[in-house]
Amino acid sequence: MTEPVLANELRHRFAEQLAAEGKLPADWRAAAETVPRHLFTTKFYVPTDSPTGVTRYVPITRELVGTEEWLRRVYSDRTLITQFDGQDVDWSDPQPLDGGDPTSSSTLPSLVVQMLDALDGDDETTVTEYGTGTGYSTALMCHRFGDHRGTSVETDRGVAARARVALNYCGYSPGLVVGNGLAGAGLRTPAARTIATMGVRGIPWAWLRETTPGGLVVATLRGWLRSLGLVRLEVQDDEHAVGQFIAAEPGFMMARQQQAPANLGMLPGDDDGKTRETEVGPETLHMPDSGFVAQLAIPNARSFFMPGDGGRMRAYVLDAANGSFAVLTEDGDGWSVREGGPVSLWAEVEQSLALWQAAGSPHATEFGVSVEPDRQRVWLDDAEDGPSWRLPVA
Ligand SMILES: C[S@@+](CC[C@H](N)C(=O)[O-])C[C@H]1O[C@@H](n2cnc3c(N)ncnc32)[C@H](O)[C@@H]1O
Repeated sequence: MTEPVLANELRHRFAEQLAAEGKLPADWRAAAETVPRHLFTTKFYVPTDSPTGVTRYVPITRELVGTEEWLRRVYSDRTLITQFDGQDVDWSDPQPLDGGDPTSSSTLPSLVVQMLDALDGDDETTVTEYGTGTGYSTALMCHRFGDHRGTSVETDRGVAARARVALNYCGYSPGLVVGNGLAGAGLRTPAARTIATMGVRGIPWAWLRETTPGGLVVATLRGWLRSLGLVRLEVQDDEHAVGQFIAAEPGFMMARQQQAPANLGMLPGDDDGKTRETEVGPETLHMPDSGFVAQLAIPNARSFFMPGDGGRMRAYVLDAANGSFAVLTEDGDGWSVREGGPVSLWAEVEQSLALWQAAGSPHATEFGVSVEPDRQRVWLDDAEDGPSWRLPVA
């Protein structure tokens, strides 16, 4: 079987499988069956399990694994990573990588079509995408809405250039912009829909200005501890939008300009801060629902574990904005916390958890999101009077 015939067969089989699993909305089936993902992902990395605990990424190309295996991997519901740490891969001699921070990819197709479907568009819809990446999602968008109705923005010049080549080769010619999408796409006429396939800490106001009133923004919010989830907002005017989380799970790589500072700064000394007992352990940060609330409570914090005196495990929580810290230490069956700096970080987490529990421990999809001229908030029950948490905005 020739490569195009095999690719075609695997693509149709893949679309059928996604549809059978309820992961391919009917409106997006034709696009999934048509757009040749393999022409956008000729070379990529996939994560594998590693006994060291550090993720090992292995390269996949036609030359390395053979045409059939490469195509099988392309036509699967996986994210295919194409860049790490903002540096292009040397594809003349690709090596397995231990660790590394993925900075560009073709996102798993079921998530892409879920997000595109959430745009609730029709044949006339104009769309701006932030995070062109390989161009695969841009091509799906072009197939469904027509390429003259689509614009896509990518911050990385090399990534953008490769996406342009693949899109044009496949016959799509949307507007392609190279630049920081947090500042918008520079459109003269706002689009009806905005979608972002990179995570943001808050919704850039530029996206509201470049979306028509009544239009929708679909994006993932995330923090430095974890992803918050997928939101869909209706734009009211160029300063206001309101909506809610529609899924808790998906996490995208953070917008490059919003990544956590590389340096953690000075770690607190053993005598710094005041110690007290706490009923809230650091596992809270990593559990699905409580982790969501903790991320909202301490938006500028990062956390890691490190053994302390006597080998007892310590969890460090450090705030990059104000230098506050909380160090949690195993204490018998529970934990003690030592806090210092202008804000009691762990007390913020405890208070947020208490509010959330008092509200019946709702799932992320019950939280609303409001964008206003001078602030952005995630809230419960009522946008004005319910408990709310501020999002950091650039
Ligand atoms: C998950 S990938 C995009 C996936 C892509 N839509 C696809 O399906 O192939 C995220 C992309 O967002 C880009 N990006 C990060 N920050 C950005 C920014 N501020 N403006 C525009 N693009 C950005 C990254 O360079 C990366 O290529």
